[in-house]
Amino acid sequence: MSETQKTAAPGGQTRHRMLTFHILRYNPQDPDSKPHMQSYQLEEAEGMTLFLALSEIREHQDPTLQYDFVCRAGICGSCSMLINGRPGLACRTLTKDLGTEITLAPLPVFELIGDLSVNTGKWMRGMSERLETWVHTKEQELNLDKAEERMDPDLAESIYELDRCVECGSCVAACGTAQMRNDFVGAVGMNKVARFKLDPRDTRTDDDFYELVGDDSGVFGCMSLLGCHDVCPKELPLQTQIAFLRRKMISVGLK
Ligand code: F3S
Ligand code: FES
Repeated sequence: MSETQKTAAPGGQTRHRMLTFHILRYNPQDPDSKPHMQSYQLEEAEGMTLFLALSEIREHQDPTLQYDFVCRAGICGSCSMLINGRPGLACRTLTKDLGTEITLAPLPVFELIGDLSVNTGKWMRGMSERLETWVHTKEQELNLDKAEERMDPDLAESIYELDRCVECGSCVAACGTAQMRNDFVGAVGMNKVARFKLDPRDTRTDDDFYELVGDDSGVFGCMSLLGCHDVCPKELPLQTQIAFLRRKMISVGLK
């Protein structure tokens, strides 16, 4: 880790570090495109994030560079990429926390759109449809005039904690199982199942959840590599949720 280094230039102006970005370039839509690294140099600015750096590069050096951003505040999850080989959110990563040589690459596992842009949305939609990540209620309970039952505040807090997932895909990209099995639901999927299992409004039983994740594409495919837990930018308790779900699913399987 290194702090932003400033030196006084003649005339009293502040000179910042010169950063070199090595970015993996590839456009799968272009038959002539070959994966290669391309380097860009940029003077660091105060409070510079990777989002700001990439915007500078695209605006002043290379308008063809592809990457994704929406919220710039760590909420939409679209800017996740490999930063010096580790998945992370580019909009929440300060250049001052990195060295002067910075390598950026797209997340593995997900379909590549181009350069640093990947289609996490397609993967997340598939996972959500498969795990049915919505509250399942009985039909007769769908009375909109009826006030929702009060939930215990501690339980609501626990559910809210798991709902902080922004589906950035960092946990999937950091997972060895997800790289080997394309049907693996990843820590993001298991976190969602744990979340709906906690929710008293959801009428699904343990057997129903076992149907969803009680096999090698779910909890039994997880090898406890814990890369997911290490890289989650929201610091979700993924290790605890996976262990909780595994214990539950083992007890259902042994019934
Ligand atoms: Fe993958 Fe996390 Fe399990 S990295 S193998 S989902 S503990
Ligand atoms: Fe939304 Fe980074 S741009 S999380």
